Amino acid sequence: MKRIYLDNAATTAMDPVVLDAMMPYLTEQFGNPSSIYFYGRKSRLAIENARKSVAKSLQVTPGEIFFTSGGTESDNMAIYSAVHDLGCRVIITSPIEHHAVLHAAERQVKDGFAQLKLVKVLPDGHIDLLHLEQLLKETDAKCLVTLMHANNEIGNLLDLHAVAGLCLTHGAIFHSDTVQTVGHYKLDLSHPGIHFATGAGHKFHGPKGIGILYISKEVQVRPMIEGGGQERNMRAGTENLYGVVGFAKALELAETRMEQDQQTIQELKSYLIARLRERGDVVFNGDVEGKSLYTVLNASFPRTAETEMLLMNLDLRGICVSGGSACSSGADLGSHVIRALGSHTDRVPVRFSFCRHNTKEELDQLLEALKACC
Ligand SMILES: Cc1ncc(COP(=O)(O)O)c(C=O)c1O
Repeated sequence: MKRIYLDNAATTAMDPVVLDAMMPYLTEQFGNPSSIYFYGRKSRLAIENARKSVAKSLQVTPGEIFFTSGGTESDNMAIYSAVHDLGCRVIITSPIEHHAVLHAAERQVKDGFAQLKLVKVLPDGHIDLLHLEQLLKETDAKCLVTLMHANNEIGNLLDLHAVAGLCLTHGAIFHSDTVQTVGHYKLDLSHPGIHFATGAGHKFHGPKGIGILYISKEVQVRPMIEGGGQERNMRAGTENLYGVVGFAKALELAETRMEQDQQTIQELKSYLIARLRERGDVVFNGDVEGKSLYTVLNASFPRTAETEMLLMNLDLRGICVSGGSACSSGADLGSHVIRALGSHTDRVPVRFSFCRHNTKEELDQLLEALKACC
């Protein structure tokens, strides 16, 4: 059975060009980047070239890019640093953030280091910026605002610059989880007011287990992981050399294909919206035709005996989709994001997420399968 993969917000297939770029660093160029002899120097050069390339793409300086193990570590590090090094005593976030943010913030609250304030989410899934402003105005203590650029479940896009502006006005630190937008949009992280941003290689056809944390030169923080002096003393541990090289190559590739990919993937999304609408029983979650990530579409189906098992039945037909974030796919734990939106909670949500490898024919097969399943 030829499988149809429509869960690209969970992870993407690595591009063979990326693998080719990584291979030498898995084989003959194996030196520890901290070693001073030839092999070490070659590895160090590869890492610093990758850092330069990533920094250029995100319009920041190489000294502001730190390689980590992925989005989760970067989110944790940003939140930890803001509380422990920058004196943030209040964390303002939303109920629809990724658990890498929500659980890291809750940990700081549970341990007594910070207080949590949740910004309201509008029915269309956008963050209520007026409420954010009100929270910032009424809070005397130093705030960390952590809001994601694109929601991984419903695709809604945040106005990064507007939030950065509010944070600047109120002297707040701003972290944005940009895991779903790095490699998908041209980002300018040097925009005033953005202090931390995160990325993960596997979301744009790069390798898993490698990510970045952008830390603006405006803020000085200490490492969360102690040990060696890697990553300019910010993140100890022998570097994931081939991962770093793969991350940079995947980002470079994404940039060269960005316009073309955005157009073809948006066409797929629009096609699926139109065809699902024809069914008459589907409602969409989020601002699907407005400020929305072109790679994600979240639709809810009526809850029936058949749709209770929808994800599994689609899998039996070779179609890979999820109910929400990767951690809730398979087991039907329900989505905290859909719950927070408060509408269509009696329905079965399905997240379809696309990449450049998907085709209209695959979507036609999906639609046929959906017809058979519900
Ligand atoms: C928005 C968002 N943040 C963070 C993460 C975690 O990234 P990683 O899997 O690289 O740790 C993900 C991926 O699942 C994500 O979609």
